[in-house]
Amino acid sequence: MFRMRLHPRRALRIVLVVSMVLFVILNFQMIPDSSEEQRLRNHHMVAGGGLAVEDMHVQLGNSQRNARHGDDHKSDADFRVSLSRPVHPKIVIAAGSNQTQPASLQGPSLTLNTSNLEEIKQEIQRLNKEQYVHNLDKFGLALGSESIVMVIQAHNRADHLKLLISSLSKVRGIDNVLLVVSHDVYSHELNELIGSITFCPVLQIFFPHSQQIYHNRFPGEDPNDCPRDIKKDQAVLKQCNNAGHPDKYGHYRESKYCQTKHHWIWKLRFVFEEVRLLEGYEGHVLLLEDDYYVSEDILFSLQMMQNVRNKDCADCRMLVLGNYDKSQNYKVNGGKVERAYWISSKHNMGMAFTRNLWTEIKKCGKEFCDHDDYNWDWTLQHLSMKCVPNKIRLLKMKATRVFHIGECGMHTKSKNCDPAAKVRQVETQLTQNRQYLFPNTVAVDGDSRFKLRDPKANGGWGDNRDRNMCHSFFNKSIPPFLR
Ligand SMILES: *[C@@H]1O[C@H](CO)[C@@H](O)[C@H](O)[C@H]1NC(C)=O
Ligand SMILES: *[C@@H]1O[C@H](CO)[C@@H](O)[C@H](O)[C@H]1NC(C)=O
Ligand SMILES: *[C@@H]1O[C@H](CO)[C@@H](O)[C@H](O)[C@H]1NC(C)=O
Repeated sequence: MFRMRLHPRRALRIVLVVSMVLFVILNFQMIPDSSEEQRLRNHHMVAGGGLAVEDMHVQLGNSQRNARHGDDHKSDADFRVSLSRPVHPKIVIAAGSNQTQPASLQGPSLTLNTSNLEEIKQEIQRLNKEQYVHNLDKFGLALGSESIVMVIQAHNRADHLKLLISSLSKVRGIDNVLLVVSHDVYSHELNELIGSITFCPVLQIFFPHSQQIYHNRFPGEDPNDCPRDIKKDQAVLKQCNNAGHPDKYGHYRESKYCQTKHHWIWKLRFVFEEVRLLEGYEGHVLLLEDDYYVSEDILFSLQMMQNVRNKDCADCRMLVLGNYDKSQNYKVNGGKVERAYWISSKHNMGMAFTRNLWTEIKKCGKEFCDHDDYNWDWTLQHLSMKCVPNKIRLLKMKATRVFHIGECGMHTKSKNCDPAAKVRQVETQLTQNRQYLFPNTVAVDGDSRFKLRDPKANGGWGDNRDRNMCHSFFNKSIPPFLR
């Protein structure tokens, strides 16, 4: 005979088990759903009457699917980091309405005669002024303090840019990003490539003082410029341009090396100060270059890093997603970050920061423009040591989320090695480490012990014309789209 007696102890055990089961169910089922509901509510609140509810459902449905697709090995931690739209966005443009921007606005002309530099100049002025955003109707925009705006500095390498874009298309949460592409070359090939992006809103801006337009005068190379290696007394005799202003090593300006620093600071200023959509934007801006390639958890990682920063490094003003370490151990370092002070050769790839740091850099604009180094990153390290209060402190991801595919490594002899081959290598590495991406936890793993110094200036930035033009970007007397 089997008789069951309910001992007090057994009753207690049953209550415990039941409440544990309930707890587990609540955690794994209810939280994502209720936060999804929360987001919906917020959308209704901020979007007001102008928004079709059906469209919102479609939009959120997509994000939800993106956030969950195919990752069986992921824990629920994924859902706690909001990869969806921000909770209290300051900047909101509803998707699906045809009022997002005037119908008369258009992206770059695909028929313009690109041999006619005057036409390009006019078109660039128009574009910088109008600030047409591709895909704005489709995605809308909601930007808050936890949002990310990506900015790509692009030159003329469409093949590289194409690979970067293909990596971006796979990034989880990319549909909530505003992508800004800053060009210093106007070409139909590049514009078509950007126009073909379908996964997020995209704004193209154009550096107006490009070598393409000014190919035979400053900031391009003027026929009367002094040759790099001419002696100063000979240069003065010859009366070539700015003979009195070689760099600290006695060399004269080489226009092809100056454009990148100009473009870099121009672009930052334009994004933070002139892009109307970003007025008052408080979130992060992530800087990329056209020959980078990114992992699909780059936004996820950046959002995890923001949480770590808030908890463990209140004075960190930059988050760095990439590094150049030869060996990457995702198993050990996938969820580890390191505290450090900014060093150009270590921290210049995949930098993210907010308006706060931009404001500090801007205050050092004179120092940036007058420092005799044509590299923006060495110049920034100089600012960190000599001008920005308390130096630029940062958190960096120990296992890189950004890859430089523009150079194929020291061991490769050939100069034109194949970027697609490099990407295949990176993809293999990422696939092998797939289970370590989207880490459940991200935590600080110590401080970099690297010695800091104010780097010796590399020169190449002695010419007054470069310094004056750089100053002019900050100068209020020039119309914003020309500055
Ligand atoms: C939106 O587009 C439709 C069709 O083109 C048009 O009928 C409608 O008036 C437009 N709405 C607004 C607010 O412009
Ligand atoms: C394009 O512009 C160049 C330079 O102004 C001019 O020589 C050429 O004829 C133009 N081509 C066309 C098709 O208009
Ligand atoms: C703006 O131009 C003036 C001269 O016109 C110059 O003295 C000043 O330094 C410039 N401002 C900045 C921020 O560079």
